[in-house]
Amino acid sequence: MSYERSVSASPHELVSESVWHVQLPELRFGRGSVRELGFQLADLGVPEGAHGLLVTDGTLADLGHAGRVTDHLEDDGFAVDVYDDCPREPAVADVDDCIEFVRDEQGADGYDFYVGLGGGSCMDVAKATRAVVANGGEVVDYIAEPTGEGERLTESGPPLVLMPTTAGTGSEISPVAIFAVEEKNIKEGISSNHVRADAAVLDPTFTTTLPPEETAKTAMDALGHAIEGYTTHDYDSLLRPEDAADRPVYAGRSPFTEMFSEQAIRLLSGNVRRAVHNGDDLEARENMLQGALFGAIAGLTAGATLCHAMAYPVGNRYHTNHGETIAVLTPASTIDYNAASDPSRFADVAELFGVDTGGMTDRAAADALKQQYIQLQKDLSVLPSGLHELAGVTEDDLDWLAKQTVDTQKRLLRTNPRPVTQEDVREVFADALHNW
Ligand SMILES: [Fe+2]
Repeated sequence: MSYERSVSASPHELVSESVWHVQLPELRFGRGSVRELGFQLADLGVPEGAHGLLVTDGTLADLGHAGRVTDHLEDDGFAVDVYDDCPREPAVADVDDCIEFVRDEQGADGYDFYVGLGGGSCMDVAKATRAVVANGGEVVDYIAEPTGEGERLTESGPPLVLMPTTAGTGSEISPVAIFAVEEKNIKEGISSNHVRADAAVLDPTFTTTLPPEETAKTAMDALGHAIEGYTTHDYDSLLRPEDAADRPVYAGRSPFTEMFSEQAIRLLSGNVRRAVHNGDDLEARENMLQGALFGAIAGLTAGATLCHAMAYPVGNRYHTNHGETIAVLTPASTIDYNAASDPSRFADVAELFGVDTGGMTDRAAADALKQQYIQLQKDLSVLPSGLHELAGVTEDDLDWLAKQTVDTQKRLLRTNPRPVTQEDVREVFADALHNW
C-alpha cells in the first residue's frame, strides 16, 4: 500500500481501512410510485396543508409531468408552487435565481418542503436551493475555495424529495450539486450531507418521454458509474483516516457496492438498446432506472476513476454533455488502460456485460469487453465515434487535456486502480479520439 493511494491519509498513519459506510436517502421505486409522494412527505414530517415548491424545467412542465406531480400533492392536501426555469447544465446564477424566487414568495425561511423533478440539472438546483435557503447567503458562499468562500453548511432545511426523469446521473442519492462557474469556465459543486435529499421517488413512467439521444447519453454515464465503481480499489486496500469524519466520499469498493455494480452492469447493458430504440418500452425503462440507481449507489460510494477524471477537463473546455463524454472515453480509459490492473476483474465485467468469455484468457475477455462496449455505442446510433467527432478534439489538444487532468483531478486519479502519469493520460486521450 502506498501513501499515494489514499485520498485522506496523513503520512504517519499507515493503517489499512477496515470500515465501509454507505449513506442513502430513503428510496421508493416503481411504476406509479408518484402516488406515494404525499405519503413520503408526511412520513418525513410534512404536515397536511404545508406549502411546498416543485423545482423542474419547462419541458417537463409542457409534457405534463410537473402537473402529474402537483395533482397528486394537491389531492393529498398540500399546497404547491412550481418553479420551472431550471436550464440544462445550470450555472451558479441559475440557482441564485431559484433561491431569489423562494425568498420573494416565502421570505427567508422558504417553503415547508421541496420536490425536485427532472434530470441531474433540476435535481441539483433543487438540492442547492433548499440547502442555501436553510443556511442563508448565496451559492458561492458554499463552493470550495478559491472559487467560492468554502463555508460549511450546517443545516439541511425542510424535507426534500427527488424524482429523476432520466436514468443516469445518480443525483437523487448523491451529496453533491454541481454547477457551471461561467467566469472561470469550470464546474464546481457544493458537497455536503446537508445537500443530499431525504428521499427519492423513482417512477419509470416519468422516463418514457426522454428522447433517444438523452436516453443513450445518461445510460452511458450510469454504466460508467457501475463499471468504474466495480474496478476501483478495494476499500481495505486504502488507508484508514484517523477520524471517521475524514473518510473520503469515494472510499473504495466494498461487498455492498460490488453487489450493486454487478446488477447495474447487467441491467443497463441488457436494456439500453430497447430503451433507446423504443422509448415506450416501460419494462426496459424500469430496468434502466433501476440499473442507473444501482450504478449510482455503487459508483458514487466506491468512487469513479480515470474516465471521470478525464471527462471533467473535456466538459469544461468544450461544454460537452457529461454522459456522451464518458461514453467516448470509457473504452480507452476504464477498459483498455485499467484492465492491466486486474484482468480477471475485467473478465468479470465482460461476463456481466453479456460477453461469452468461455475459453478466453482474462486479458482476451477484457479486450472483448472493449469491443462489445464499442458495438453497443454503434447500435445505439446516436453517440459519437470518439473525442474527435464529439468536440473536434485533435492531437494538438491532447497535451493541454492531459495536463489539466493530472493537475485538477488528483482526487479521482489517486483511487484509479492503475497509477497514471501525464504521458499515460495523453496516450489514453489519443486512443479515445476515434473509437471506430
Ligand atoms: Fe458521471
